[in-house]
Amino acid sequence: MDPKIQKVLDSQTRTVTVLSCLIAIQESFGYLVEGAIPAVAQRTGASVNDVYSVATFYTHFRFQPPGEHQIELCWGPSCQIFRSDALMKQAEEFAGIKFNGTTPDKKYTLRGLECAGACALAPVGKLDGTLVGRLTPEKLRERLIAMRQNGGGGHHG
Ligand code: FES
Repeated sequence: MDPKIQKVLDSQTRTVTVLSCLIAIQESFGYLVEGAIPAVAQRTGASVNDVYSVATFYTHFRFQPPGEHQIELCWGPSCQIFRSDALMKQAEEFAGIKFNGTTPDKKYTLRGLECAGACALAPVGKLDGTLVGRLTPEKLRERLIAMRQNGGGGHHG
């Protein structure tokens, strides 16, 4: 097992499960690094297939390093009613890629969220991890331009 992965898995203080291991690795590296799946299988006694099923079932997990900036928009039912599709279009135009992807220069990652758990504030998004509610295409555009001007940040998670 990769010693860096091993260290992360060893640092868990609560009950160790497949899910807790995957979360620990993603929090630490920003994504499920190569070797993560077999390492979690080894640690928990689950099969590689089972670990892989869990990792792909939850949209939370990613297998590629994230871009410098995270643009996440909710496309759950409440947000769809409030025209999240217009927001997504705006974000796609801004980044020049489609949803659930990372720009070739690794600057922006666009991700759809199933439900951000803030339906009362629909439509919502998370911009570099910060929840923003009652988004409009204009408000989103302003935020994205501010994000671009802020440059780095390297948010993980
Ligand atoms: S559906 Fe978007 S926050 Fe719940």
